[in-house]
Amino acid sequence: MSIEFHGPYLALEQNALGLKLTPISIRELLFISEAPCEVFGIKDGLYKKIIAKSSAVSNNTVKELLQKGQHYLFVFRTERHLLIEHQQENLRQVTRSLSVGDPVEKAVKQMNLLTINLGYLYANSTSDELLDLQFQSAKNLANFLIDKSELHEQVFQEYLKQKHHFILAQPALSSLFLMGILKNANLYNNSEIINLFLTSYFKDIGMSAIPTEKYDQEELSESEKVLLAKHAQHSVEILQGRTTLGPSYLKIIENHHSFSLLTQNLELNLNSDDNILAGFETMLVTVMDVISAMISGRPYRTASSLYESLDLIKLLIADQYPQEFKLIVTYFRSFFFNGRKGEIF
Ligand SMILES: [Fe+2]
Repeated sequence: MSIEFHGPYLALEQNALGLKLTPISIRELLFISEAPCEVFGIKDGLYKKIIAKSSAVSNNTVKELLQKGQHYLFVFRTERHLLIEHQQENLRQVTRSLSVGDPVEKAVKQMNLLTINLGYLYANSTSDELLDLQFQSAKNLANFLIDKSELHEQVFQEYLKQKHHFILAQPALSSLFLMGILKNANLYNNSEIINLFLTSYFKDIGMSAIPTEKYDQEELSESEKVLLAKHAQHSVEILQGRTTLGPSYLKIIENHHSFSLLTQNLELNLNSDDNILAGFETMLVTVMDVISAMISGRPYRTASSLYESLDLIKLLIADQYPQEFKLIVTYFRSFFFNGRKGEIF
């Protein structure tokens, strides 16, 4: 039996709830069969329990909540860890069973769970446990997808449908693209490609210095802008000595926003194969980041199409680096043939 509160008692009950509840992202309810804790929403301006503990939840539940305009969800602060642990166990399970079942479905599920867990990691970037789980799971996904370039387009389309927060979605998209292009380039062995995938995936972890929801504002405050400008350096500080990524990969992370410096480096190092490769990799990481940023929407601007983003990249690099641009276009060509028939470069 539940007791209905009215008048001043209702206000007291709401106040008490307000103090005990903490917000969650609605996407944290994806891939859950049974609610590990109670979930509250807001109805007529009041907190209201919408999912009881242990009740059945499906991906349709999330869809229905979104359709009803229930975007803001909460759980008890004391139960927050139950949801996090549940999703981490989910991630471990999918990581262990990636090769069983439909490969696209598995890869997309793994990417979605990685994205949910990236949110937990960004909220607590000093946790070794969180970083280890994320790193190992991302590595497994990379291993799984490295010889399956033909599935990338489908994985990309399905993943995009979940509309994760762009801060959390962008690393997965840019790393997937990077992997496909590096594989096509035939210049790297699989272990180098996987390290570069991980380099790309973790390059923005320094952005966790600013809470994810703050990025929804078009203008950050002055102090936040300073933090954002230093995020590449901050990423290196967070990762140093805590993963298997070596100094040359951390260098790419440190330089992933120095595009002008990067083009200078490429020119200066034309006689040194090693340096050309280092510059080439950094450029690709940056370019894939630009594409992924453009195709994922922001609250203050709509998403561009893949075609539009490649048009910009063409302007940026095609004259100076025609071979590199050709590699990029070759990889994305299958996306156009599969996804948008009739549009060819
Ligand atoms: Fe970045």
